[in-house]
Amino acid sequence: AASLLLPACNKSGGDGIIIGEFASLTGKEATFGTSSHEGTLLAVETLNAAGGVLGKKIDLLTEDNQSKAGETSNVVNKLISKDGAVAILGEVASSRSLEAAPICQQNGIPMVSPASTNPKVTETGDCIFRVCFIDPFQGTVMANFVTNTLKAKKVAVFTDVKSDYSKGLAKFFKEGFIKAGGQVVAELDFNGGDKDFKAQLTAIKSAAPDAVFVPGYYTDVALIAIQAKQLGLSVPLCGGDGWESQTLLDIGKDAVEGHYFSTHYASDSSAPGVQAFVAAYKKRFNGKMPDAMAALGYDSAMFLADAIKRAGSTDSKAIRDALAATKDYEAVTGKIAINAQRDAVKSAVILQVKDGKFKYLETVAP
Ligand code: PHE
Repeated sequence: AASLLLPACNKSGGDGIIIGEFASLTGKEATFGTSSHEGTLLAVETLNAAGGVLGKKIDLLTEDNQSKAGETSNVVNKLISKDGAVAILGEVASSRSLEAAPICQQNGIPMVSPASTNPKVTETGDCIFRVCFIDPFQGTVMANFVTNTLKAKKVAVFTDVKSDYSKGLAKFFKEGFIKAGGQVVAELDFNGGDKDFKAQLTAIKSAAPDAVFVPGYYTDVALIAIQAKQLGLSVPLCGGDGWESQTLLDIGKDAVEGHYFSTHYASDSSAPGVQAFVAAYKKRFNGKMPDAMAALGYDSAMFLADAIKRAGSTDSKAIRDALAATKDYEAVTGKIAINAQRDAVKSAVILQVKDGKFKYLETVAP
């Protein structure tokens, strides 16, 4: 209750620049938050070690939403109203970024999502940005890959109806695949967190697709791959960035071998800045390899810091304007140009699960 007596005391004149971060540090998608947070933290520590931004240290305040719907509004309201954050970083999962975006927008606080790819996130308003590509692009990339590289003519689409990300990516994939001349022979639904997918996979198998598109998150996808294998559904499974986690490999083991997905970056890339980032991250986090969420978390914080520098001010409106004016920012995950919709226009990569690892196949330009 005592804190209520100190309204927004941090908003200006404090020592540091208060940046709020919300992430799924625990719960179903814990690797999303853990990775993006570690990347964000590495960026902030690097900036502060070099003297901070505008001569001030960055104060990163991080809140866990436990991967749960409803929690994000609590923590983001707190970061803005109680802690006085001048900008917000987060999240990976689109549904949770969609929960935070209206709160940031109403308060005039710029928000930068590291990895939420659903178009609706930035459509919320002019304070909402992201450093990743969006799903109309990602869906088209995979539709073309399935058509041209896998030579699939018939696909099944298996969607997590609890996830805005999954529903959007399924739709954009379908549109792209049909446009490329393909046929969608089955469309089935699941609920993120389900454990038994056999009924839907049986229906998919009887539709005899050449490939199955599963725009889900890694835990569900791993179980789907295991059960598909048990049922003798042996066509390639394909998906998007939501697959990207070491946990996909740990749970899915040989059942995920050979399958394909699109994502934001490959850690073995020779593109500018990637190997320096990988080395710094490994040094900071006990030899752990940074995944796409770690790289995007790092990029989101560095991108925000760059805008604060260019704004020459920690005023939220000035930061917003500087973010919107970003035309060529060299990030670890590629060059970022912010378009009129406040989305980053960037390349995607396609990876395959090969010998228990993610193997880089190709880069697709926007
Ligand atoms: N793009 C996903 C979403 O919008 C989140 C994600 C990003 C997952 C990167 C893994 C890697 O929900």
